[in-house]
Amino acid sequence: MKIVILISGRGSNMRALLEADLPVEFACVISNRAEAKGLEIAAAHGVPTRVLNHRDYADRAAFDTALVAEIDRHAPDLVILAGFMRVLSDAFVLHYERRLINIHPALLPAFPGLDTHERALAGGVKLHGCTVHFVTPVVDAGPILAQSAIPVLPDDTPASLSARVLEQEHRIYPMAVRWFAQGRVTWREDGTVYVRGESDATRAALVSPSD
Ligand code: GRF
Repeated sequence: MKIVILISGRGSNMRALLEADLPVEFACVISNRAEAKGLEIAAAHGVPTRVLNHRDYADRAAFDTALVAEIDRHAPDLVILAGFMRVLSDAFVLHYERRLINIHPALLPAFPGLDTHERALAGGVKLHGCTVHFVTPVVDAGPILAQSAIPVLPDDTPASLSARVLEQEHRIYPMAVRWFAQGRVTWREDGTVYVRGESDATRAALVSPSD
């Protein structure tokens, strides 16, 4: 299974994937920003890197066309967005239908978009977390593959909450990619995702605050 990862910055999710000992080949890491820290991490892991600066292209369509060409040189089975901070055109998303995934720092469908930790705190939610989902043309609304929930603590700040959610991101992103590589992920007719062989967690619950 060949994988291309797209990043824009720090690359901590990318690092978690590269270090998870997955049964996959990481063909390339592509960044739209030359200064992305993740590029050094990828290179240190022996993964080829490429920079495609969106500012070098006339518009979103032109950039996305160039990005598709660069990605498709590797003929990937799966394209992974790992902190790639660009909204992708419908044409791009449909080109990679069912083989494009993203991680979002909230329990979707709650808090799509940016500043999720600030909004979770402002909303007073008692559980927060992260979601791995397939990408469809509607931003942050594609079929959900995996989620992890954590309690929101009384003294949490956006920074502390973000740090604990990020730990969970690093846990569930490699897990979801492993399922995909193992061929355990199926789309149901109704557009939801089923993971074959998932463990029976029917009695598990995370209650917050706990009594
Ligand atoms: C993560 O919070 C991820 O959920 C969001 O962008 C951030 C990327 O962080 N999509 P990193 O570059 O993986 O460290």
